[in-house]
Parts: sequence; C-alpha cells; structure tokens
Amino acid sequence: MTRVFSGMQPSGEPHLGNLLGAWVNWVAMQREAESIYCVVDLHAMTSPTEHDPDTLRHRTVDLATSMLAVGVDPEQSILFVQSHVHEHAECTWLFNCITGFGELRKQPQFKEKSEGHESVSAGLFDYPVLQTADILLYHADEVPVGEDQRHHIELARDIGQRFNHRFGEVFTLPKAVHPPAGARVMDLQDPASKMSKSQSSEKGIVRVLDDPKRIEKKVKSAVTDSATDIRFDRDEKPGVSNLLEIFSAATGRGIEELAREYDGRGYGAFKSAVAEAVVELLRPIQQRHHELADDPGEVARLLEVGADKARALAAPTLARAKDAMGLLPAGEA
Ligand code: AMP
Ligand code: TRP
Repeated sequence: MTRVFSGMQPSGEPHLGNLLGAWVNWVAMQREAESIYCVVDLHAMTSPTEHDPDTLRHRTVDLATSMLAVGVDPEQSILFVQSHVHEHAECTWLFNCITGFGELRKQPQFKEKSEGHESVSAGLFDYPVLQTADILLYHADEVPVGEDQRHHIELARDIGQRFNHRFGEVFTLPKAVHPPAGARVMDLQDPASKMSKSQSSEKGIVRVLDDPKRIEKKVKSAVTDSATDIRFDRDEKPGVSNLLEIFSAATGRGIEELAREYDGRGYGAFKSAVAEAVVELLRPIQQRHHELADDPGEVARLLEVGADKARALAAPTLARAKDAMGLLPAGEA
C-alpha cells in the first residue's frame, strides 16, 4: 500500500485554502493509502517574527482539532504533533551532516523568508532538512503538498539518495503530489494572489471557524469586475472564477453547470448562493470543532495514540540510519 505523509504548520488560523487545497485531499486519501499527518510545531518555531510560546501551544492544539474536525480519522490515519516524536529532531542532525551549506542557501523558500530580516535563525536555514526527516523517517512514497513545496521535496529525495548511496539502502525516495489546479483558492480581495494566512487581509480570507454572518459579509464584498456576466475565465474574470471554483468545491457541482445556472441573475444573487454554500460546507466542521474543543482530554488522548504509532514507525528507521552511519549502538562495544 502506498504511504502518504504530509504536514502543516500551526502558524495561523486555518482557512478555506487549507481546507479545499489540502485537507479535503488528505481525508480522501485515508481510504486509499496509509496516511500520516503531522502538526509541524518545530517548523513553526523557525519564523523570524512569529514565535510566541503561548500562541504556539494554542495554535498546535487548534490545528490538530481542526484536522480532526474536517475528518482526519485517527483510526484510519496517524495524526500527531511533530515535537512529540523526538526522532524528527534527531534524524535532522544526521541529515545536517550530509547536506551542503550551499544547497540550503539557495532554497527558494529560505531566500524568500529571510529577505529583509536582519537576523534569521539557524532553524530557518535548516527548515528543509527537518522536513526531509519528517518524510524519510516514515518511508513515505507520496507527499501531498502545494506547488510551493516542490523544492523541499526534491531536496528530501536528494538527501535520501545521497544517504542510501553512501551508507546503504535505508530510505525510500518520496515524490511530491499536487492537488488539482482547481483546489487553489485565491484571496477574495485580490484574486491574483493565493488566499494566505500570512499575506491576505482579514477581508480576503475565509477562516474555517468564521461564523455564518462573517462568511456572508466577506463573500458578498469579494472583488469581482464591472461586467455582470458569470463565466469561468481566470484571466479576464479572476474574481468571479475564484468564486465559481469555491462554489464548485463546496457543493461538488461542476463549474460550467453553476455558471450556466447563475449567469444573467447578477452578482448579488450569485454571491449569496456562494456564501450559503460555504456556510453549509463549514457548518458540520465547526460543529465538530466546538465539540472537540469542549473535550480537550479527548484531543490530547488522540494525539498521544498518534504519537505512539508514529514513534513505532520512526524509531526503527532512525536506529538503522544511526547504525549505518557508524554511531555506536548503546550497549555495544
Ligand atoms: P499554509 O497555510 O500556507 O502553511 O499552507 C499549508 C497547505 O495548505 C499548503 O501546502 C497547501 O496545500 C494548502 N493551501 C494553503 N493555502 C492555499 C490556497 N490558497 N489554495 C489552496 N491550497 C492552499
Ligand atoms: N513546509 C510545509 C509547508 O509549509 C510543511 C511541512 C513540514 C511538510 N514538514 C512536512 C509538508 C512534511 C509535507 C511533508 O506547507
């Protein structure tokens, strides 16, 4: 069976892009693949501006709760918090010692995130090596991620290949899988840019936990254009097209069919229908989120079960890697 690994950083409140671009796919994959999903809290500490202990703690629980609420099923998948499995940090060190400084310096995401910051941490520099450990420790075959993660997955392959070549076959080489282009959710106020927890304004972003009134307000004030026709055309009508994609993803109905149904009825009616569809999509998720948030003991228990299962897979792989590199096993001489 194919094994899938993916992770998300607890670095902000989850939004419709996370749900439609990642989680819907994660949930679907649980049935077809052995799936491992991780709240990557160690990665979230690398942000030059954002690391506040209370916020990190709170967001970690909250992100795990959201993943459970959208349907990540701990019976079918492994769901855990990265820092609960110390093997990730330890494996990072092993990989650090076979990764080039130059290789990391030219990583596009590092360049982007460090630009304009006077001091960036060694952790930010090392971010892709930690991500490599996440993936390789579990022998993941596939890593479902957004396009922006392509270089990180390539690096994971390179490091895995280099290790196997120098020290013997230990690691499986993963490949990135990207969700269909339709799952890219754009900012409601700026439909040329992705909806993003770091870039979008509050009006441009629909959060998974926004209440119905807020959702309605945001969708109704989404930027469209001065014409009135409703059709799918990303270049000429990016705002309308984004709403059509969201509408389609929320209802499971085809874009063309929806465009035909709403064309000629005006943007007002169209936006109301989109808002309602998003509210209905999020309603059961919010309901489950609130139930889980009222029972933190249960979330903690599920995360412990997940960490135990993850450790059982990661520990033997790490032990083999250490042995292969010549680290003396404890108890041997
Ligand atoms: P981020 O919230 O930026 O850490 O993104 C985590 C993951 O959510 C990404 O790797 C994507 O798979 C997905 N994602 C984030 N924003 C969007 C978006 N606007 N459209 C589609 N998918 C997204
Ligand atoms: N860097 C990823 C992102 O920002 C998050 C991540 C960390 C990840 N470790 C991973 C994704 C392992 C896939 C596999 O989206």
